[in-house]
Amino acid sequence: MAADASVVEVVLESDLKNVEVAEEVTRRVSNTAGFDEDEQHRIDMAVHESVINAIWHGNKNDPSKHIWLRFEIFSDRLEIRVRDQGNGYDPGHLPDPLSQENLLNVSGRGIFLIRTFMDDFRVESRAGQGTEVVLVKRLNSNNSAPSRREGP
Ligand SMILES: Nc1ncnc2c1ncn2[C@@H]1O[C@H](COP(=O)(O)OP(=O)(O)O)[C@@H](O)[C@H]1O
Ligand SMILES: [Mg+2]
Repeated sequence: MAADASVVEVVLESDLKNVEVAEEVTRRVSNTAGFDEDEQHRIDMAVHESVINAIWHGNKNDPSKHIWLRFEIFSDRLEIRVRDQGNGYDPGHLPDPLSQENLLNVSGRGIFLIRTFMDDFRVESRAGQGTEVVLVKRLNSNNSAPSRREGP
């Protein structure tokens, strides 16, 4: 592998059938980066949720809009960016899917899962430039659900 980051970029049309394509590419990249099967599966699920959110909430299912996926493999981590053409959102103000009144909701779990499966998750929204979510998974981080760091 090259000394610096190695990059893979994919542009997808906003169509739910492309979620599978995104997962396939993710699996290949995370395998190349050196993650074991369990970790590949977690990364896969995080990308799955992010791409569905980008298509659904970001691009409002508009097939003329696109999703940009960017994978960057560093020596110590994999960084994945998922960008849409929507207006963005603040992930700090989402309902807690584990609170009593939300336990039976089937929606509202995607971001929670992403935070659980990845080491870092942030949202970068810029006016007129869509929303970019950044997912980071460290190599050898051993990030199983109970040991994750969480804000208040
Ligand atoms: N790419 C996005 N653009 C705009 N809003 C988003 C995006 N991703 C997530 N959201 C917002 O965050 C909320 C929580 O997302 P998530 O946890 O995946 O639950 P769900 O998709 O089931 O609503 C969404 O309902 C939506 O309001
Ligand atoms: Mg979702």
